[in-house]
Amino acid sequence: MKRLVFLTGAGMSAESGISTFRDSGGLWEQYPVEAVASIGGYERDPELVINFYNERRRQLLDVRPCRGHELVAAMEKDFDVTVITQNVDDLHERAGSTKVIHLHGELMKATSTRDPNKPSQIVTLTPEHLDIQMGEKATDGSQLRPYIVWFGEPVPMLETAAEVVSRADIFVIIGTSLNVYPAAGLTAFAPPEAPIYLIDPKDVPWNAGHGFHHIKKGASAGMEELIKELSTK
Ligand code: APR
Repeated sequence: MKRLVFLTGAGMSAESGISTFRDSGGLWEQYPVEAVASIGGYERDPELVINFYNERRRQLLDVRPCRGHELVAAMEKDFDVTVITQNVDDLHERAGSTKVIHLHGELMKATSTRDPNKPSQIVTLTPEHLDIQMGEKATDGSQLRPYIVWFGEPVPMLETAAEVVSRADIFVIIGTSLNVYPAAGLTAFAPPEAPIYLIDPKDVPWNAGHGFHHIKKGASAGMEELIKELSTK
């Protein structure tokens, strides 16, 4: 089976009702990213950050995968699919995608403040245990924190993701402004002979060598068009 690799961003979940970061009205217009999504912000005011993610996590219970997530998952019938996502929601998994690499962490997981990437410290939150409380401890005794990769922290899955992109037969980018590195740098790892599709209603500053096919639509309509295009190949 051909290897189909997706790189998705906040636009993938926009049609599920989750706001993006940099569109008008986006999350970073409402909150100072430095205060709520950086390691410095967490160290300065852990309670503000923990509550910011508690709020985003609660929102997750009210949304569901959009048609775009479902179509990405359905591609596994005909391709060996890997989804590399910058999103921290679990909508790809809930739509049925089985191979998802989260570059920026996962909203439904929590971990140790002292050793956030130690596998034994990572726990899955549930609807019954959704909020992280100040004073709640990880098993190593440090404050339990969101399992999110904040600005200023390393991206542990980057190398794995780059290796996956470098072996792609087809590379599809959906709903990311390609503003944030190192995630945005993954586009440079696509093999020269792999066709690249960009699904986004807006133009995106392209940052990699060889060209791409821009499907200038939202995630769901864009995936419908992509499936048509690939079926004629
Ligand atoms: N369908 C597809 N794409 C869409 C849709 C839609 N319905 N609506 C908006 N978009 C596109 C926008 O045009 C934009 O290019 O989604 C992209 C959203 O860009 P950002 O808001 O910058 O989100 P993203 O690229 O995922 O941000 C990357 O920044 O703050 C950090 O960690 C955070 O993972 C995030 C990273």
